[in-house]
Amino acid sequence: MKIDLTSAIRLTPGDLQQAQAALRTLKTGTGAGSEFTGWTTLPQTTGTEEFRRICQLGKKLYEEADALIVIGIGGSYMGARSAIELLKTPYHNQRKGNGPAIYFLGNGICAEDIRTVLQLVEGTDYYVNVISKSGTTLEPALAFRVLKQELQTRLGKEEAARHIICTTDKARGALKTLADAEGYECFVIPDDVGGRYSVLTAVGLLPMAAAGIDIRQVMEGAAAGMKEFFAEEDSNPALLYSAARIALYRTGKKIEIFSYQGEKMRSFAEWYKQLFGESEGKELGGIFPASCQLTADLHSLGQYIQEGERILMESIVRFEKTGCELVIPKDDDDLDGLNYTAGKTFDDAFLAAAQGVKKAHADGGVPVMELIFDRPDEWNLGYMTAFYEVSCAVSSYMRDINPFNQPGVEAYKKNMFTLLGKYR
Ligand code: PA5
Repeated sequence: MKIDLTSAIRLTPGDLQQAQAALRTLKTGTGAGSEFTGWTTLPQTTGTEEFRRICQLGKKLYEEADALIVIGIGGSYMGARSAIELLKTPYHNQRKGNGPAIYFLGNGICAEDIRTVLQLVEGTDYYVNVISKSGTTLEPALAFRVLKQELQTRLGKEEAARHIICTTDKARGALKTLADAEGYECFVIPDDVGGRYSVLTAVGLLPMAAAGIDIRQVMEGAAAGMKEFFAEEDSNPALLYSAARIALYRTGKKIEIFSYQGEKMRSFAEWYKQLFGESEGKELGGIFPASCQLTADLHSLGQYIQEGERILMESIVRFEKTGCELVIPKDDDDLDGLNYTAGKTFDDAFLAAAQGVKKAHADGGVPVMELIFDRPDEWNLGYMTAFYEVSCAVSSYMRDINPFNQPGVEAYKKNMFTLLGKYR
């Protein structure tokens, strides 16, 4: 990958030294929440029995299932969704001969979402993968209760059990109890891996494999990334990125906009927002993660970015090669006046837009970092995962924040449970 910080900030040796110290804290397990750093070694788990089972079941689902409904919220679905949309496009479900359609439920409380997906899968051979580390999160638990009953009514209890797969804690939680009682196949979310860092466990890997994604390649890219981003050299992009964003934060840039190209990166931006928002937003501080699709959102948010409050920094994330070439045709009449673009590709046009944005925003007082990954493939997905996970932990440790807890999300749950009568 390449990282360009020039129009954002000139880093001082002190900024980099702080990032290096934070990285050492992560590596030596001496920081807050160090009992949740198992994600750093997940890429080395491809020889395990669990990984073999994920590959085997993923292949079966890819070959035999008509649809897979993934039930989970937050870290228990965003990684899988972002991987599938990035590698298989957001239109995966409309493509024939590409494995099962993949739907996501339990990521909110909305009857219509459930009803619509149930209508879409009606009469087909669909499977359910319910994912919850705690096994007690209300949103997925409610969706699963409905889906389980639906499957049992249609197939009978025994056959329904063969269509349900649980990804949860190895021993604790209501979901594990239920899975054991009903005899569902189970995959484990390790104790030392928190939800938003769990994409390289069965949480992300099983839905990916079911969609036909080569998860060995994902793990290889992640392994290469972990190695590169754990190096304490000044050229380490994760150190440069973390040092830059925290230095900018200290000058009053409180919001980071993750700017990306095209629909296929939309869910990846959502994954990034969860990873950084839940990790860094603590003790009344932290960078607020936002996102902007280039160029769609320039026609909505663009005005604010250019001339609104100067509290923004931006990271433009793009690929060197998109792998999809489309040449702009010449038109003999040229009534739309676009022949000046004829012969160029859409990638050429996007590059011009991205460079235009970079200059305009930087000139307007929004520091811009540019992160360029090679191409949107399996290997790079793993590599990008490693990049953002390491950067997030390093950035958090630079501010003495525990990157692995989320005490703030309990507040709404308490109120909701009280209103629903849980504590009566
Ligand atoms: O990062 C996290 O820990 C959270 O986003 C969780 O993944 C999310 O709240 C879902 O939790 P669970 O997997 O326990 O249902």
